[in-house]
Amino acid sequence: SLIDPRYIRDRIRTVPDWPQSGVQFRDITPLLQDPKTFRVLVDCFVHRYMDHDIDVVAGVDARGFILGAVIAYELNRGFVPVRKKGKLPFDTVAEEYELEYGSATVELHADAVKPGDRVLLIDDLVATGGTMIAAARLIQRLGAVVSEAAAIVDLPELGGSTLVREQGIPLFTLCHFA
Ligand code: PRP
Ligand code: HPA
Repeated sequence: SLIDPRYIRDRIRTVPDWPQSGVQFRDITPLLQDPKTFRVLVDCFVHRYMDHDIDVVAGVDARGFILGAVIAYELNRGFVPVRKKGKLPFDTVAEEYELEYGSATVELHADAVKPGDRVLLIDDLVATGGTMIAAARLIQRLGAVVSEAAAIVDLPELGGSTLVREQGIPLFTLCHFA
């Protein structure tokens, strides 16, 4: 990619024991807060996807909205939100996925992508991969193609990035925390 992964990594804040004991939470808000870092971050993705023939950018609720919308704008493409259950007003497709405790559901408007569209799927972080895989399935169920899934951070020890790739979904991340 365009920049040294350490540039991004060093600017992510690690919050110990949040939201629960034993979790080292990787907080990306400092990357957004500093104007120079925010620009570098967005430019990394824009530079990579400029030549990927992307038709539409999908961003995942909620942190994927921030990056996804700006990347879409810079690529001169539209943005569509993958939302948590019950938020989208029109006809939707839904995918349920497993969490550590219980399950969650993501939804996409049925007309958000068209058959054959090449979709860039954006989130901030891949942990267990459940969210990214469910979001990709929504896109695929509507007949579109996930050109690539992309995130700022991979947590490879949780195995999510491997699972995403095993589903045949190309995945790009800017940095990882082992
Ligand atoms: C976080 C993160 C990803 C997802 C990654 O979102 O932003 O969307 O979890 O986890 P996974 O790979 O195990 O699925 P969260 O559900 O906390 O929602 P938020 O963006 O609304 O905070
Ligand atoms: N940071 C941000 N989001 C997350 C994390 C994390 O460490 N783990 C699961 N979702």
